[in-house]
Amino acid sequence: MSIDTTALRQSWPRPSFPRPIVIIGAGGIVTDAHLPAYRLANLPVAGVYDLDAERTRTVATQWNTRGFESLDQAIATPDAVFDLALPPGAHLDVLPKLPDGAAVLLQKPMGRDLVEATAILELCRAKSLKAAVNFQLRFSPMMLAVADALARGWLGRLIDVEVHLNLVTPWHLFPFLVGMPRVEIAVHSIHYLDTLRALLGNPTGVHARTLGHPSTDLAQTRTSALFDFAPDQRVTFSINHNHDFGRRFQDASFRFEGTDGAAMVKLGLLLNYPEGESDELWITRKGDDWTQVPLQGRWFPHAFIGTMSNLQRYAAGEDAALISSVEDAWHTMALAEAAFESAAKPATPVKAKP
Ligand SMILES: NC(=O)c1ccc[n+]([C@@H]2O[C@H](COP(=O)([O-])OP(=O)(O)OC[C@H]3O[C@@H](n4cnc5c(N)ncnc54)[C@H](O)[C@@H]3O)[C@@H](O)[C@H]2O)c1
Repeated sequence: MSIDTTALRQSWPRPSFPRPIVIIGAGGIVTDAHLPAYRLANLPVAGVYDLDAERTRTVATQWNTRGFESLDQAIATPDAVFDLALPPGAHLDVLPKLPDGAAVLLQKPMGRDLVEATAILELCRAKSLKAAVNFQLRFSPMMLAVADALARGWLGRLIDVEVHLNLVTPWHLFPFLVGMPRVEIAVHSIHYLDTLRALLGNPTGVHARTLGHPSTDLAQTRTSALFDFAPDQRVTFSINHNHDFGRRFQDASFRFEGTDGAAMVKLGLLLNYPEGESDELWITRKGDDWTQVPLQGRWFPHAFIGTMSNLQRYAAGEDAALISSVEDAWHTMALAEAAFESAAKPATPVKAKP
């Protein structure tokens, strides 16, 4: 059966009445992805605030928006939707100051570990915040299309999924990671954990190893993991951020194999972060050739339109569900926690020769 891949859904609907966005924390990801996304989607930005006043001024000037002089001034913006793009440990400093009932998007991860994620969840509940976590990979054009292809039954039931990364990541762009005990899974592979959950549901268990590399001081830059879903589903990660041997064998991909078809995703962004190469999506059904799906955007910045649009639409009653709500995101944090716990446990010992 031939398939019309141009019919696949690739974007989230925009809010009908966009509200002003107040950005708190104005670092690299804000200028690489948040502000470009909002400009592209005509979502209004009321202004930015950063603890570093010089950074506030620079970003406000470059992006022709207001630079707030204090957190209180930023928070006082009428009808604002708050966009927190802070290091993971800073969410709990800012969230208590937001007005009860506010709509807020928190940059991922949801705190540094599950204890902080639980504290964030409880605070959001106590303040009745409409709060989502910016796990935006599941909102990227390619992953929305994969989700749609699965929903249409084109691949059948997923039985084999692999995330394969073999590349060089410029970790120096994330100085706040130096000295953190949890790095690779906590800030990077967590996107893949979240995307797995979005497409396959919650696994019941995980086996993981995560380790550093002689070329870096960071706690971990390489991860392998194996996830328990249904007994016939093999789901695995092989993540190496240290393949510094030229572009030829570098790779960043998701392979989805179902009972009736398969999809391959290339995460082009990661191959030359943050400029990136183009993302790609290919789909086949048993017996057919592979078809490349023309993508209507990239992970950066287009996926960031999706998370903010869903939040604003949910706050306005236009979307029934807040997809990456703190309630949902907590499970991604629980999966990351389980992976770190597994990584700290010994493997099955191999018998010594008698
Ligand atoms: N794809 C993604 O979703 C993605 C990619 C990169 C980074 N991130 C996440 O975004 C967050 C920020 O990353 P980044 O690369 O922009 O880091 P960064 O270090 O460039 O920026 C963080 C900014 O937050 C400011 N800040 C810290 N505490 C603050 C506070 N209490 N109030 C106001 N400002 C404060 C700092 O001064 C800094 O300018 C991190 O949590 C990171 O994990 C997400």
